[in-house]
Amino acid sequence: MPVRILSGVQASGKLHLGNYFGAIKQHIELQEREGAELFYFIADFHALTTIHDAKTLRANVRDAAIDYLALGLDPKRSTFFRQSDVPEVTELAWMLSSTTGKGLLDRAHSYKDKVAKGLDASLGLFYYPALMAADILVFRANLVPVGQDQVQHIEMTQDMAQSWNHAYKTDWLVRPEPRLSSTPRVVGTDGEKMSKSYNNAIELQMEGKPLKKVVMSIKTDSTPVEDPKNPDTCNVFALYSLFATTGEREAMAARYRAGGMGYGESKLALLEKIETYFAAYRARRAELVASPAEVDEVLRDGAERARKVAQATMAEARRLVGLR
Ligand code: ADP
Ligand code: TRP
Repeated sequence: MPVRILSGVQASGKLHLGNYFGAIKQHIELQEREGAELFYFIADFHALTTIHDAKTLRANVRDAAIDYLALGLDPKRSTFFRQSDVPEVTELAWMLSSTTGKGLLDRAHSYKDKVAKGLDASLGLFYYPALMAADILVFRANLVPVGQDQVQHIEMTQDMAQSWNHAYKTDWLVRPEPRLSSTPRVVGTDGEKMSKSYNNAIELQMEGKPLKKVVMSIKTDSTPVEDPKNPDTCNVFALYSLFATTGEREAMAARYRAGGMGYGESKLALLEKIETYFAAYRARRAELVASPAEVDEVLRDGAERARKVAQATMAEARRLVGLR
């Protein structure tokens, strides 16, 4: 059996360095893996938990699709689609919710964090992990490449699959495993986890002056220019390391420790790295913005391929629970 790889990104705002280095870079690189079947999607059903404006949601979905393609997603190698084009996931989510204890969802960190940050404690936000589990299980995926913050959701998926299989005395639902990149938790400009919703993100689309402004705003301590500095506790160094070769990283660390270099200088080095690294992406993005039909076609084709797989799973799931 080929290994099946699946992941999704919420259409809740502009993609940032955390999304890229935690998740999307792995998604693109996994396209090189022999014999893998890849499914990537834009989680617009999930985005409904935070976005209640149709125009914004549509624009976000398009933006994320363009970003993925511009970053190297190849629709010939990956099945790339919009979650809502596969409505079967909502049906499986409902089935799972009937064999999952409420206590499991009570333990979700991401729900607690979001409510603590002031989001409404809607039923949808609470139910979010069951829908995510259905995304994964409906494709019978083996491997789910994500950032650190999503690992608990995948462990919950394992539990939900097990409870359902146990209830129906089957092993039809496949146990998925998370897969982390070498940088599973990218820090934001304030040193917290970078996130669309924390106002600390460096967005992939940023360039020129706005990019410089955010990079210059990265939080540092107040060690004077001449004093030695600790690279291991510095947000600028952590972000610079995402782009640097081992040699460049060591050279930068040595300059920190030697003293005589201000944070302004390491910020400029980071700025240059970001500008260069994402230059090709920005050029490709501009082309895709100018050809919306090409993006529509990719999503239409992906939806068709994805839906066939989901429909086959659901036919068997319905039979197993007694709906057919
Ligand atoms: P956000 O937290 O900004 O809303 P999403 O929840 O849509 O981002 O995350 C999409 C993918 O990007 C997930 O796999 C998630 O784990 C990953 N990701 C998000 N933020 C980070 C981060 N700061 N570091 C590493 N990975 C991240
Ligand atoms: N919850 C994920 C996030 O916020 C997005 C997502 C939805 C997802 N369904 C998924 C990720 C299935 C992996 C697999 O990033």
